[in-house]
Amino acid sequence: MTLSVAVSGASGYAGGEILRLLAAHPDVEVRTVTAHSSAGQPLVAHQPHLRSLAHLELQATTPEVLAGHDVVFLALPHGQSAQYTDALADTPLVIDAGADHRLTSPDDWAAFYGGEHPEPWAYGVPELSVDGVKQREHLRGATRIAAPGCNASTVALSLAPGVAAGVIDAGDIVSVLAVGPSGAGKAAKTNLLASEILGTANPYAVGGTHRHIPEIRQALAAAGAPADGIRISFTPVLVPMARGILATSTAPIQGDATDAEIRAAWETAYADEPFVELLPAGVFPRTADVLGANIASLGLAIDRAANRVIVVAAVDNLVKGTAGAAVQSMNIALGLAETTALPVNGVAP
Ligand SMILES: NC(=O)c1ccc[n+]([C@@H]2O[C@H](COP(=O)([O-])OP(=O)(O)OC[C@H]3O[C@@H](n4cnc5c(N)ncnc54)[C@H](OP(=O)(O)O)[C@@H]3O)[C@@H](O)[C@H]2O)c1
Repeated sequence: MTLSVAVSGASGYAGGEILRLLAAHPDVEVRTVTAHSSAGQPLVAHQPHLRSLAHLELQATTPEVLAGHDVVFLALPHGQSAQYTDALADTPLVIDAGADHRLTSPDDWAAFYGGEHPEPWAYGVPELSVDGVKQREHLRGATRIAAPGCNASTVALSLAPGVAAGVIDAGDIVSVLAVGPSGAGKAAKTNLLASEILGTANPYAVGGTHRHIPEIRQALAAAGAPADGIRISFTPVLVPMARGILATSTAPIQGDATDAEIRAAWETAYADEPFVELLPAGVFPRTADVLGANIASLGLAIDRAANRVIVVAAVDNLVKGTAGAAVQSMNIALGLAETTALPVNGVAP
């Protein structure tokens, strides 16, 4: 049976990447694409690379247009999703790429977003350890899924195995992350002009204000860290590459684990994962090698002099960081093969 799909925010970066992946999915047909200011225009006017979907026209994003599909993807600016979710009560599966349904704590929501706390949905990072099982077990049969924040899932995947195994101390995490401007969406913003970002690296949200911090804390608490004992210093840096994230995350070694035991925590966690790779000792990932791929590529080092574990992670923010996670979660929720339509090869150089 072919599943009918609607994608909102289809003129944007996340919506466009969801469409690129779904266009190669044998079990779905993209019937409807919606946008806001671009409604009424051909999809390819905004996504000229999506040639196989050239027959689609962007419609207005309304509950009526989105209703009646088997699966609806919401790829809207933060705060816009919740207004549609009530109207989609009869839709078997809704997947939100935005932040609206990610946080379980009303206090975190109030502190970092404000306003009414929308209902939390199943978190779309299948590889994370949650209450002793992989999150994919919580995604099977799910009807409402919150795809992750790209920075948050990159850091969470970097550190969760060490937390779950008790070999790192979540009370002193430091993470510095380089990210390209597509992470901020396609809408015109002065700070994202080429003249503002080419040839320079720009830190932002310095000092614990980035909205992905509570999402990282939530994932690490689920992996087994004491919720009131997680401290994260997180600093993102905007760098001039269209897509990609390179996160360097460090935490103190806990206990008297040997180097082999520490490394085994990550090896064991990801041994059977098709979309998370642990590179050999001494090898570290580059963003160039994950572009277009649904892959989180990790390199791990143990710095005994600093008494810290260092994990360097490369992720394509639009694939494993958003659209790939969303499609992977859809596959799991619907009982399809998890890897369907998800590329593991990137595009290089
Ligand atoms: N970019 C990433 O790497 C990334 C990663 C993880 C999660 N996300 C999340 O994905 C969501 C979309 O991000 P994006 O980067 O794709 O943003 P974007 O490129 O700016 O696209 C936003 C889309 O939403 C539409 N839109 C704008 N205002 C709207 C409204 N009031 N009602 C309905 N539709 C509206 C836009 O339509 P028009 O163009 O027609 O106005 C466009 O299609 C965000 O919640 C973001 O946090 C993004």
